Amino acid sequence: MIVCVCKSVSDRHVRGAIREGAESFEELQFELGVALCCGKCESHVRGMLEEAGVCATGCLHQGEAVTTAAPIRFYEREAA
Ligand code: FES
Repeated sequence: MIVCVCKSVSDRHVRGAIREGAESFEELQFELGVALCCGKCESHVRGMLEEAGVCATGCLHQGEAVTTAAPIRFYEREAA
C-alpha cells in the first residue's frame, strides 16, 4: 500500500527502512522523502514508527527502558 503518494513510498519501504535501523521520523524523511511535500502521510508514518516500537518523537524512549547512550545514526552506519 502506498503511504506517501507524493513520493510513491509504500508501507514496505517504510517498514524496510525501520528494519534497517531508521529510528526517527526525521530519518525516514531523509531516507525516503516521506512527508516532505503535502505532509498528509506524516501521521501514518509516525504511527508505523510507533507500531514498530520506535518512539515517534525520536527521544529514544522504547517501552520502559530509556536509552542514555548516543545512538548510531543511519548516516553513520556502514552501507550493506
Ligand atoms: S503524501 Fe506524503 S508528502 Fe504528500
